Amino acid sequence: MSNWPYPRIVAHRGGGSLAPENTLAAIRLGQSLGYRMHEIDVKLALDEVPVLLHDEVLERTTNGTGRAADMPWSTLRTLDAGSWHSAEFAGEPVPSYDEVVKQFLSRGTACHVEIKPTPGFDRQTGNKVAAASHRLWRSAALPPVFSSFSFEALMAAKEAAPGIRRGWLISRFTEADWERLEALEATSLHTNHKNATPEVIRELHARGYKVMLYTVNEVDTAERWLDAGADGLFTDNLSEFAAKFPKLI
Ligand code: G3P
Ligand code: MG
Repeated sequence: MSNWPYPRIVAHRGGGSLAPENTLAAIRLGQSLGYRMHEIDVKLALDEVPVLLHDEVLERTTNGTGRAADMPWSTLRTLDAGSWHSAEFAGEPVPSYDEVVKQFLSRGTACHVEIKPTPGFDRQTGNKVAAASHRLWRSAALPPVFSSFSFEALMAAKEAAPGIRRGWLISRFTEADWERLEALEATSLHTNHKNATPEVIRELHARGYKVMLYTVNEVDTAERWLDAGADGLFTDNLSEFAAKFPKLI
């Protein structure tokens, strides 16, 4: 298998802006548009069940309040994570990581698993998500990629599932990141396209790293980064990107 067998355009937060982020509905919608790879955000419930949620707290994307880390999975799963987006998705639940991996595997699609620990839970989040991934993705044709803004979480993931590729996620790449990439034995660097340059992509490529850029929602910006050699782009603009780049999704 090639060092980087992944599509260049990736559905951000499951289904971009077309559906409530980090839900099964979002992932299904992305798959129905032809996406073969999705990015999701994963953290731990109180009882250490890995769940999909971007924020530390529940208010923005569910009808719950407070931290996901203070609620057991049995309670989190009863929340409405769809109404904030639109009436069409009312009642859509917060999914567990196990459930969404089953959905990916049922369609042979893959995943950038962003390990997004609740602050203070870095190590155990990296450990649990990696252990679950090792178990769940065993038979996958296209294996997942881990990423995280948390160095500690990604190091823990490396210990628990060394065979799963790791991407170091940082808003702006600086010289200090070479050391982190090396310590993580990372395959890729994931960064904000607004802080990236073609030179940074060239330097990373010259040292053997792939480069993923988030979150690119304009077609002309995407074309510019693809021409500059970016290995992948995360997008919320699923319909337009699927129409414009059908061979890259
Ligand atoms: O994984 C790339 C991107 O998702 C990082 O930013 O805030 O959307 O999780 P955020
Ligand atoms: Mg993310």
